Amino acid sequence: MNDEPLVIVERDGARRVALLRFNRPKQLNALNAQVMDELCRALEELDADETIRCMVVTGNERAFAAGADIGEMATASPIDMLRGNRIAQWDRVRRITKPVIAAVAGWCLGGGCELAMALDLIVAAESARFGQPEIELGVIPGAGGTQRLTRAVGKSRAMEMVLTGEPIDAREAHRLGLVTRVVPDELLVEDALALAAKIATKSPIATRLAKEAVNAAFEMDLTEGLAHERRLFYLLFASEDQKEGMAAFLEKRKPEFTGR
Ligand code: HXC
Repeated sequence: MNDEPLVIVERDGARRVALLRFNRPKQLNALNAQVMDELCRALEELDADETIRCMVVTGNERAFAAGADIGEMATASPIDMLRGNRIAQWDRVRRITKPVIAAVAGWCLGGGCELAMALDLIVAAESARFGQPEIELGVIPGAGGTQRLTRAVGKSRAMEMVLTGEPIDAREAHRLGLVTRVVPDELLVEDALALAAKIATKSPIATRLAKEAVNAAFEMDLTEGLAHERRLFYLLFASEDQKEGMAAFLEKRKPEFTGR
């Protein structure tokens, strides 16, 4: 076990946001079991913390994360992989109910790209490079890369990236809709935190259900998805935040959302 935390958490109570930063710089933030466990625990703790409404996950200027840790997998048998159940850690990330933004600079590869795509939206620095290079290692993406990348960028482009292993740059990722915006490197964390702070001013019940409804678009057909959306929409009329939001509009003032 490493003494230093491999994920550093900073809370900004005033803005109700938290920043989680990978701290394994020498290995380009390669995601070993400990990094992923610390990330999952921190996200789960923040998910249960009423003072926080949105989280940002970032790396450093060289790498968001250069993939799962190859050293940990190199000599594994299928049974080791199955028993280790590492991919369950990517599923844990997916179960977080609050919005989580990935702020990506530098390498975002393999399991790192799969992690960014499992979060809710990606803000990229100019230096960001996204790729699924597993084919170079004699394997394929294993934590959602063939599925989420294909849904994000379409079959042909995903196929090329997965079959050649070649990364795309931030501009292309933006053009393809993989990332929501591209910002100068020095502004990346500030920009992602400002976006998180903006989301944190909304009703936390509404943002949670909005996230659930958008994610449902990837899992349900249109009829099911529309019905699911409608049920969540109706449910929100049970919240004090809905009454407050609509009253504030009619009274021409800013709403004060409490998450009730
Ligand atoms: C373990 C890694 C690593 C990784 C980098 N390092 N990526 N260690 N796992 N994924 C280590 C290097 O071994 C090296 O350690 C140090 O980080 C710096 O990396 P360099 O290669 O020297 O840096 P550079 O020349 O700048 O090249 C950067 C790079 C390259 C292009 C990103 O490191 C690279 O190709 N990395 C592997 C990317 C990859 O294949 N990712 C997918 C992994 S499989 P030393 O000790 O030599 O300094 C995967 C499957 C997920 O993610 C499935 C779900 C579980």
